[in-house]
Amino acid sequence: MSQPTTPVYVYEIPVRIWHSLNALLIVALTVTGYLIAEPLPSVSGEASEHFLLGYIRFIHFAAGYLIAIALLFRLYWAIVGNAHAKQIFLPPLLQAQFWQGVWHELLWYSFIVKSPRKYIGHNPLAVLFMHFVLVWGLFFMIITGFALYGEGSGQHSWQFTLFSSWVLPLFGGSQSVHSWHHLVMWLIVCFVLIHIYVAVREDKLSGQSMLSTIATGWRTFKDDKPVDDIRHS
Ligand code: HEM
Ligand code: HEM
Repeated sequence: MSQPTTPVYVYEIPVRIWHSLNALLIVALTVTGYLIAEPLPSVSGEASEHFLLGYIRFIHFAAGYLIAIALLFRLYWAIVGNAHAKQIFLPPLLQAQFWQGVWHELLWYSFIVKSPRKYIGHNPLAVLFMHFVLVWGLFFMIITGFALYGEGSGQHSWQFTLFSSWVLPLFGGSQSVHSWHHLVMWLIVCFVLIHIYVAVREDKLSGQSMLSTIATGWRTFKDDKPVDDIRHS
């Protein structure tokens, strides 16, 4: 029987901490965002005595600030971290080999191709999906979120100056920003559902570890087939 390829250290601690924190913040923002859009039935008595929607909005805004700071830190780590820390920010869109890899993964995920490829970092389809849906999705939510926040904090606030002043006219008004901010939430929810399904599926069916890798940072391999990774590092 062939020996597995030696384990490789892939995801550094800051990437793993960001992954968990980001996941928790997205859950908090999605639940509170949904409740801002579809508030719970009124509770009886004076509003000031329970302040329910106030707390829901406070959690949303606090998580909003945290997710923005975390993304800035993750961007910094993409610059100073290892090659895999850069992957989701810089998909090699001009490399033919990358697109061949994307096509192969599509066929593999559709159960058309029976043999998985082996990657040290993310596979090309994952990179594409994470870059265009999650990275751009997060930037979009942060920019539109702060634009909405600036409406409340007033025209002299930095949130208004930096975001609301150009985002509101660009979208044609506050209501439209609300709708887009809401719509992209559902895009991110779809990302999360597909991402978790694929992570568990790949952990079982592909040639390498997945779930333990995002927890410990180490990628282990189930056989000694050569690695197909486009950036060996
Ligand atoms: C809101 C929830 C989640 C979001 C937004 C999310 C997002 C991401 C992102 C952006 C990455 C790339 C990390 C990087 O390179 O910086 C990633 C990797 C990964 N995530 Fe998640 N994640 C979420 C939840 C989960 C959960 C619950 C699991 C476990 C079932 C999971 C398993 C993984 C695995 C295994 C990887 C590494 C994949 C690989 O090695 O190619 N994620 N996730
Ligand atoms: C993944 C990230 C986020 C998700 C899923 C999310 C989700 C939502 C949703 C669904 C709404 C209700 C929109 C509507 O139908 O009116 C909302 C409102 C809002 N969000 Fe977010 N959001 C996110 C990030 C942010 C960020 C980073 C901020 C910045 C502080 C922010 C600030 C706001 C504000 C100010 C409102 C309007 C509150 C109100 O009108 O009472 N959001 N969000």
